[in-house]
Amino acid sequence: HVADKISKFPNDLNVFNQSICSCQKCPLGRTRQNFVFGTGNSNANIVFVGEAPGKNEDIAGKPFVGRGGKLLDKILSSINLKRDDIYICNVLKCRPPENRDPLPSEVQECEPYLIHQLQIIKPRLIVALGRISACTILNTKESLKNLRNRIFNYAGIDLLVTYHPAALLRNPNFKKFVWEDFQFIRDKYM
Ligand code: URA
Repeated sequence: HVADKISKFPNDLNVFNQSICSCQKCPLGRTRQNFVFGTGNSNANIVFVGEAPGKNEDIAGKPFVGRGGKLLDKILSSINLKRDDIYICNVLKCRPPENRDPLPSEVQECEPYLIHQLQIIKPRLIVALGRISACTILNTKESLKNLRNRIFNYAGIDLLVTYHPAALLRNPNFKKFVWEDFQFIRDKYM
């Protein structure tokens, strides 16, 4: 039973990371350079959840360190947040080859890690970054447009969905929507 497995995980974030960072439950364990557990404040009010590590993250062992990460930092600073104030991780902790979408079998093995991280941190809000992250954890195929401006519940915690920073790099027109989403986050969750 999943819940039984989860309850056996350590309830300190660093200890938990150490206990799973050699994970070989799915084939991504063989191709990764680094396990990307997550970084930030273990007492954060807000946890941001991306899809999976990319090339830079796989090399660094940290989430959102590439161009998208730099943009995320700028967006965070627009509501006076720094990386140290929040927590960031991904649904998958290991990089899929060529950055392909996570497979259901990979999500099945990795999602209990995310849920346990959230149970340790106990944030007030989860922000899913992008359609893949959102659809994976909400188990839906809806468009990002449909998922925005709604409050979901994931593992007992409020969750909202906004654009992935990489989408903003491709389409700067989306920035105004993300600005609105972050104003909402500031007004309701800070
Ligand atoms: N994109 C993601 O979804 N996560 C990262 O950590 C980096 C890029």
